[in-house]
Amino acid sequence: MLPKRVKLVEVGPRDGLQNEPQIVPAAVKIELIERLADAGLAAIEVTSFVSPRWVPQMADNAEVLSAVLASPQRRPQVSYPVLTPNLKGFDAAIEAGAQEVAIFGAASETFSQKNINCSISESLKRFAAVVDAASALEIPVRGYVSCVVACPYEGAVAPRRAAAVARRLVDMGCYEVSLGDTIGAGTPASVMRMIEACAAVVPIERLAGHYHDTYGMAIANIYASLEMGMAVFDSSIAGLGGCPYAAGASGNVATEDVLYLLHGLAIETGVDVGLLLAAGEFISRHLGREPASKAARALLARQRAG
Ligand code: HMG
Ligand code: MG
Repeated sequence: MLPKRVKLVEVGPRDGLQNEPQIVPAAVKIELIERLADAGLAAIEVTSFVSPRWVPQMADNAEVLSAVLASPQRRPQVSYPVLTPNLKGFDAAIEAGAQEVAIFGAASETFSQKNINCSISESLKRFAAVVDAASALEIPVRGYVSCVVACPYEGAVAPRRAAAVARRLVDMGCYEVSLGDTIGAGTPASVMRMIEACAAVVPIERLAGHYHDTYGMAIANIYASLEMGMAVFDSSIAGLGGCPYAAGASGNVATEDVLYLLHGLAIETGVDVGLLLAAGEFISRHLGREPASKAARALLARQRAG
């Protein structure tokens, strides 16, 4: 049976904008995040506290996070997580006011090295230090596992490798683990095998789907995940995104497309389609292109036609 309600975690301001060749001004990011909160998204990943040498697009992390948290338009019920790969990032995030953080590991050794410059086992030690520091401050920590289906360097990834890292993150204290099909290579068959392995070691209520749409499979993969009982999905406004350390990875599944699917299935999300479309139009206008979301393009064309 499909879930009655789904939580969407909006990752466009982070996963989306981290990969834009042009640096988006902080003021535009802040307005985008406020528009997404107004649209009813309950969790919005704001930025990442990573090295500005590695990801210059996120160098304004403290400015963006503190402005969002201080804004009179801030919604108290919305969570604003940020990525923190190590204690240095965690300390900076706390300094800027972060109230939720996320750690991000991988099921593939090579991807771990290319993305965060260390092995999986070294990354887990760094994450444990972040989780300990966070728990001392009662800050919730979300976990990510990248390359749960395939790796851009190693090819297919065995489901048990994704499950092992997911389990370690939960044992450490993550309240939820987001399973990243980083290069969007999964199909319902491989995604279901991966979820089956992960759900055998972590309750499905604590698993989220984070699917990139490189091969146009993300919506099919979300439907397959819904059928397995998953009820949290990451998505990106206007389909922004990619990963700087995963060549060929295109955007995350578009929030507008996911909403069209979920509302079509009579699944509640709490998100207002009109306000979401306007947020997508806002950032797409800024970037000088049409939203990558097919649903957004169709709905906006219908709106314009009156
Ligand atoms: P490193 O070079 O191994 O770190 O980077 P280090 O500890 O050796 O330190 C080297 C320098 O970096 C030092 O500065 C540190 O202070 C600094 P220096 O003394 O040379 O001036 N440094 C930092 N600066 C700012 N913030 C920090 C930080 N840590 C050290 N937190 C590090 C390790 C993880 C920082 C680096 O590899 C990095 O920033 N990588 C970027 C990772 C990233 O943002 N990737 C994209 C997000 S993940 C993703 O998109 C996947 C996901 O969406 C799920 C999916 O789709 O699969 C989540
Ligand atoms: Mg991603």
